[in-house]
Amino acid sequence: MFSNSGNIILRDKPSRSDNSEDELHDLFNKKYQFRFSDEWRLPDRDSWFSAPPWTIKILDTMKSRLNFHKSQLNDFSIEEWSSHTRRRNPAGEVSWKIRCLINPEFLTQAWTKFYECLSTYKMIPEEACITQKMVSLHLCEAPGAFITSLNHYMQLHHRNIEWKWLANTLNPYYEENSPSNMISDDRFMFHTLSNWDFGVDNTGNLMNWDNSQSIVSKAKSLGKVLLVTADGSIDCMQKPDAQEEVTSPLHYCEIVTALQALSKGGTFIIIFAQSSVQRS
Ligand SMILES: C[S@@+](CC[C@H](N)C(=O)[O-])C[C@H]1O[C@@H](n2cnc3c(N)ncnc32)[C@H](O)[C@@H]1O
Repeated sequence: MFSNSGNIILRDKPSRSDNSEDELHDLFNKKYQFRFSDEWRLPDRDSWFSAPPWTIKILDTMKSRLNFHKSQLNDFSIEEWSSHTRRRNPAGEVSWKIRCLINPEFLTQAWTKFYECLSTYKMIPEEACITQKMVSLHLCEAPGAFITSLNHYMQLHHRNIEWKWLANTLNPYYEENSPSNMISDDRFMFHTLSNWDFGVDNTGNLMNWDNSQSIVSKAKSLGKVLLVTADGSIDCMQKPDAQEEVTSPLHYCEIVTALQALSKGGTFIIIFAQSSVQRS
């Protein structure tokens, strides 16, 4: 981790171990807590985005080296490379095992990722348990596995909560949307279309202010929004050396939308990811 003065802030590294139990423990325990002083307040609005951009030399050097090594992957066939990374993924067996054991609705890697969050943290706010009502909003959500994962969890642990949900994503039925940014798998969406909001222009593009506002007001009209998820990602294949630059405007729009919709005491979970289509 780096401060903006360029100093490295050390953190505890998960220890390396030959023992697979320990390795598993390390994998599931990469958790960091950030503590802010109670006196901390958002800076004055006029000062936002006013500081000149700054760079951290050591990070720039690391980025160049990383991209140099990544570019050597161009010599491999994409199928061969994907098969290699799949085999190296220690979590690869998890979905297979869950499918064999419980075969839940619409199981994907996102399903397991979200279920792990639900099981690890208290994501269903106290207010939902007390009032037995909860609205959740899911931004950039196609094909919808966070919702099916949440449904599974709610059925097992919070059956008494009357749960309503609304989701947004780039509209796969809108022909002018670029196929490279969209997930066209509508197996779940097709059956739940009335719960999806594509904004005022029907594109579903959350980076359009009017769309964002219409999604916020539709979600609030359902009741108190106590959970928001945001999982937007953009295909970075054309700009693999500038992934954060490509995705950060979308993440900014997700955060602005989420914070307007969220009720006090609610939970917001955002995934900072690049496209799954890239080589990794
Ligand atoms: C990783 S997927 C989400 C997966 C989902 N959470 C799940 O569990 O199935 C990322 C989604 O972000 C959507 N997306 C990308 N850019 C967007 C934008 N500008 N507005 C709305 N959605 C966007 C994509 O269409 C895609 O459906």
